[in-house]
Amino acid sequence: MAYENVLTHLENGILTITINRPSKLNALNRATIAELSDAFGAADADAAVQVIIVTGSGEKAFVAGADIAEFADFSVEEGKALSANGQKTLFDKVEQLGTPVIAAVNGFALGGGLELAMSAHVRVASDNARLGLPEVSLGVIPGYGGTQRLAQLAGKGRALELVLTGGMVGAEEAHRIGLVNHVTSLEELLPFCQKMAGKMMKNSPVALASAIRAVNAGFTDGVNGYQSEIDEFGRCFGTEDFKEGTTAFLEKRKANFPGR
Ligand code: COA
Repeated sequence: MAYENVLTHLENGILTITINRPSKLNALNRATIAELSDAFGAADADAAVQVIIVTGSGEKAFVAGADIAEFADFSVEEGKALSANGQKTLFDKVEQLGTPVIAAVNGFALGGGLELAMSAHVRVASDNARLGLPEVSLGVIPGYGGTQRLAQLAGKGRALELVLTGGMVGAEEAHRIGLVNHVTSLEELLPFCQKMAGKMMKNSPVALASAIRAVNAGFTDGVNGYQSEIDEFGRCFGTEDFKEGTTAFLEKRKANFPGR
């Protein structure tokens, strides 16, 4: 499907989703959020897509935030709806996707941009990246899950420091505090992510989706993560992937997973 603000490219089982509004530093306006939601949904339903890499167009920004021009005159109710709809249609959706999502953070990841990266399952940043949640400088707070996911990834104290100062951290500092998993040069960013995707793709897609659900369960209110792990673990035993994975191991050959 062709989008206005999003490019998709499928190669060797890896779908690269590129947010493509470089003149606005890839800021997330309503149309871009809707297109991203659609692109992620379609990818998850497509068995040919084994891993998704999400990145920004150009060499300057991953995403410089939600589009400030679009919400500057919103009312209380509109503000609330913006946050609720965004969380539901994109940010929670990405986090809960059964297909692994790697964020390739290729520059500024601010506000909604960092929130999108934090919704992904893994983050890799190029050494020019600058990450932060500057919303309080605009008189608002992160609304796409940032107050929650930053605390989960980097701890409550560091999250509060970043949110309250509204400051940015460089890639190395982001790595040190657990906000990104790896730092590479800009040239190496996509090849590095593709290599990581390749390692994921050797595994059972059904088990990957189960693992994502089990890890997410521990961060979901009212859900017992250990119980979810038991349920997901058990569920795997009923899958063709499990039969193939264990049989291949015992037959000393590479598994050929039927998948989802
Ligand atoms: N929403 C809307 N437009 C944005 C944007 C955003 N979050 N971030 C950048 N842009 C636009 C700028 O308005 C500018 O558009 P213009 O050329 O039509 O004037 C264009 O992208 C380039 O940005 P510019 O500010 O000129 O680049 P810079 O290199 O001087 O500064 C940043 C880069 C990232 C420091 C700066 O753009 C910025 O602070 N952006 C807002 C970050 C933010 O507060 N995000 C949280 C939103 S909740």
